[in-house]
Amino acid sequence: MKMIQVESYEKLSRLAADIIGAQVLLKPSCVLGLATGSSPLGTYENLAARCREGLLDFSQVRTVNLDEYCGLTPDNPQSYRYFMDQNLFSKVNVDPANTHLPNGAAPDMEAECERYEALVEGLGWPDLQLLGIGHNGHIGFNEPAEDFPTRVHTVRLAESTIRANSRLFDRPEDVPTMAVTMGIGAIMKARRVLLIAGADKAEIVEKAFHGPVTPQVPASILQLHRDATVILSRS
Ligand code: GLP
Repeated sequence: MKMIQVESYEKLSRLAADIIGAQVLLKPSCVLGLATGSSPLGTYENLAARCREGLLDFSQVRTVNLDEYCGLTPDNPQSYRYFMDQNLFSKVNVDPANTHLPNGAAPDMEAECERYEALVEGLGWPDLQLLGIGHNGHIGFNEPAEDFPTRVHTVRLAESTIRANSRLFDRPEDVPTMAVTMGIGAIMKARRVLLIAGADKAEIVEKAFHGPVTPQVPASILQLHRDATVILSRS
């Protein structure tokens, strides 16, 4: 694993965009695994700026997002589909038909998990998977558990995750308690993994990447990934 510490969130965002940008330049039709949350916002801004300036071309890029809340339709401003459309897809020249997220409002979630697993596999797994990390060590919505869930699955969110995500909702009772997430299998099959973490995540980053590999800290599995880079900002 490669651990890079940078001074600020701005530097983290620029560096993450450099790495993702290099992936797009090397393989214009690459599959990018993408994440939501506050952490990637700066990275997405940088990518959008580079696309606007003509330095990057997303016209052949395919994207697969990690996760989605259960029960939210894509047009719900709290959904991850909405977040991605607002913060990245509408700002780069990606073909919307090539952008994929699990459908949290599917009538049959079991079938939806199978569909999404097959879709990600059919695309040949991500060339590069971008990840944030939860304060409890979750990646995607793979919460601390007894084992590492390998496939796309639905999950009951941990209380701490619901609390952390409630900052983005008007009322705490609006925060979904269930989500659908890519499993650890797809993340580990990505050719390259890039995890970005702000200064508030220093403690969990230390635990995940310098402690034991355990499903109680899901991100710790990345210690076994063949090409994982972690960028941590000091402020
Ligand atoms: C959310 C997402 C994760 C994200 C994490 C951290 O629950 N499902 O993919 O990495 O929380 O979010 P943030 O970057 O806002 O701290």
